[in-house]
Amino acid sequence: MKILIVGGGGREHAIAWKILKSSKVGKLYCAPGNAGIGEIAECVDIPVTKHEELADFALSEGIDLTVIGPDDPLAAGIVDVFESRGLKVFGPRKNAAIIESSKVFSKNLMKKYGIPTAAYETFDCPDKAMEYLRTSKFPIVIKADGLALGKGVIICNDFEEAEKAVKSIMIDKQFGMSGNKVVIEEFITGPEVSTLAFCDGTHILPMTSAQDHKRAKDNDMGLNTGGMGTFSPSPFYTEKIDDFCRRYIYQPTIDAMKAEGRDFVGILFVGLMLTGDGPKVLEFNARFGDPEAQVVLPRLKNDLVEVMEACIEGRLDEINLEFEDNAAVCVILASDGYPEHYEKGFEIQGLDSFLDKEDYFIFHSATKKDNERILTNGGRVLGVTAIGKSLKEARAKAYEGTEKIYFKNKYMRTDIGKAIEQK
Ligand code: AMP
Ligand code: GLY
Repeated sequence: MKILIVGGGGREHAIAWKILKSSKVGKLYCAPGNAGIGEIAECVDIPVTKHEELADFALSEGIDLTVIGPDDPLAAGIVDVFESRGLKVFGPRKNAAIIESSKVFSKNLMKKYGIPTAAYETFDCPDKAMEYLRTSKFPIVIKADGLALGKGVIICNDFEEAEKAVKSIMIDKQFGMSGNKVVIEEFITGPEVSTLAFCDGTHILPMTSAQDHKRAKDNDMGLNTGGMGTFSPSPFYTEKIDDFCRRYIYQPTIDAMKAEGRDFVGILFVGLMLTGDGPKVLEFNARFGDPEAQVVLPRLKNDLVEVMEACIEGRLDEINLEFEDNAAVCVILASDGYPEHYEKGFEIQGLDSFLDKEDYFIFHSATKKDNERILTNGGRVLGVTAIGKSLKEARAKAYEGTEKIYFKNKYMRTDIGKAIEQK
């Protein structure tokens, strides 16, 4: 088979690595890819926003399957474009990707179908939102409706902070049109867990659990980022919790989407908070998480292409997912200053030390090639994933690995997975 991956981050590098393990793959392309992906696949210089151009390429190259990585093209309907041109594609259509691209939609869906989530109200008028906040209990959580690069959620400790948040989202339009509406949500507490699940529109198969570290700085301080590191599995996610989630969250969500005429085919990412009242959904995403994919895919035993084809063909019930009985920890090496201002274009050294190591994966997020050199090319530069028998071992190995890679302004959190060592 000829396969095309759309995207160019750590998630797509992990997907590319896993797809190449499949015996079904003859040739792998990635648009636009990055320097790391370029070492294992052929990169094609077409941006993820050019859906027709990507479809033209897929048709002219005779691509058998296209896998869409990031949220933006999914929300904008890339799957619909590919399907309308007779191309096989893995990912939800626009009318199903809305589960990520509109928080108002996903909250209303959960309310309508009784799926556990924090209590909330939605507003499309800033004055009404302010009026509601005057009588609210704090802390409270304010979320921009649309996509906001993982930064559209603001936890407000008092009315002044909430007023500022509503102003910046709805009036100053910090996140553009994504802030035309907001969700104002009850503040809930507990360990956070992410589950990625394969879906074929009718069936849903959850993968092993993972936990992200969204804040930029140690001890969950600093700004929200796309994710600074992950581990898998989560010791908080017990069999009992998994059972509950399958019964009351995962399957009901897929059933609800079907009932709404929005069959969900692709990866459903369920962000959960394990509260004293049981698991509650914080958010849905319509794709693999990044860096969650960097710890989950290395532990997956199945042939990824076979599972993706089963999703597209509506026969996921024939698949039995299996994971290695080990643990993985991923530490993101970023450019100092991310997620705000940072410099890029610095040479990355030390990547060769991992060439013969089977228990390490270096998935590139933002790198580019300059002759023989590999340069930093964005905020999150690459992820160092290590596999170990336990989370403790994987964590120690991941941090050992980070010391072997050097670039100017290298920054990382030092506490990825630290809390789990006590578990
Ligand atoms: P989201 O993008 O909706 O997952 O939110 C980003 C982060 O904000 C989550 O990972 C949580 O840490 C936090 N968060 C979101 N919603 C709530 C909530 N209702 N209560 C407390 N924290 C929240
Ligand atoms: N790591 C969180 C996300 O991919 O949305």
